[in-house]
Amino acid sequence: MLKFASLTSLAAGIMMAAGAAVADPITIKFSHVVAENTPKGQMAIKFQELVEEKLGDQVDVEVYPNSQLYGDDQVLEAMLLGDVQLAAPSLSKFQKYTDQLQVFDLPFLFEDMAAVERFQNSATGVQLLTSLQDKGLIGLGYLHNGLKQLSASEPLRVPEDAAGKKFRIQTSDVLAAQFKAIDAVPLKKPFSEVFILLQTQAIDGQENTYSNIYSQKFFEVQPYITESNHGLIDYMVVSSASFWNGLPEDVRPKVEAALKQALAYGNSIALKENQEAKQAIIDSGKSEIITLTPEQRQQWVEAMKPVWDQFADEIGQDVIDAAVASNE
Ligand code: LMR
Repeated sequence: MLKFASLTSLAAGIMMAAGAAVADPITIKFSHVVAENTPKGQMAIKFQELVEEKLGDQVDVEVYPNSQLYGDDQVLEAMLLGDVQLAAPSLSKFQKYTDQLQVFDLPFLFEDMAAVERFQNSATGVQLLTSLQDKGLIGLGYLHNGLKQLSASEPLRVPEDAAGKKFRIQTSDVLAAQFKAIDAVPLKKPFSEVFILLQTQAIDGQENTYSNIYSQKFFEVQPYITESNHGLIDYMVVSSASFWNGLPEDVRPKVEAALKQALAYGNSIALKENQEAKQAIIDSGKSEIITLTPEQRQQWVEAMKPVWDQFADEIGQDVIDAAVASNE
């Protein structure tokens, strides 16, 4: 009997060892809402390729674009439940988790993407990556998309042109205040619903980068795009602290290296992707791009900038000052 028992445990031991040798790969589900031909879509694919190159069968990256797995509003909750491991929501979509990141939504804050880059690399920008820590989320890096333009069913040249019109916004109170400041009506809606809302004329307009306006075909149902460059769509790549810190010691550095390389790649193509999207929109002849005169643009600045004061306490004046300083 004893002999039988020890043989059984020996067999079990051998089976366990064999199981360990062919351990299941670690799966990283990367969920995002945009198309593949965008800076974020391309960065996600690059990350998948690099992880495969560095870790082979040990780690399996599954990329889910176009809100296939989760929309903007569910992805972070899903992450905290362990259902998704990586996401790169727009910086406008973290309001439930921290007030500080709202700085990125202040209208007319950054003069260009070089200023955004300087701010993200500054001590304050790096510190903001830790602003989700007490919610169990870890900020792994910033990814660029670009500056936002205003698209609409009618031409928008001065703020009064937008009065009374309905604009889809991301889930951000700063963006709501920005549209209220010009007497427009902001509506918080998921990215995946924007096209149909525009197409059915349930809303009049929206704000986004050329890359998103092109890849989501908004330009096909919005005859006018005002090149306002009034705000930013950039991303923070996040994971749950428990997943990320729980990665095996021999795996995490390689995944981190892959992510760093993929982010550098995404950031290097973002400007060009947006320029190409703009050109493709022009070539389509479906939407007219309106260039503002300096005087017209100044009217938008004056109308929207009071929003800064409204949110200074929540965001922190020091954070706003650091962002402004990045313009110099
Ligand atoms: C939006 O909702 O308009 C954007 O945040 C989508 C994105 O991820 O670029």
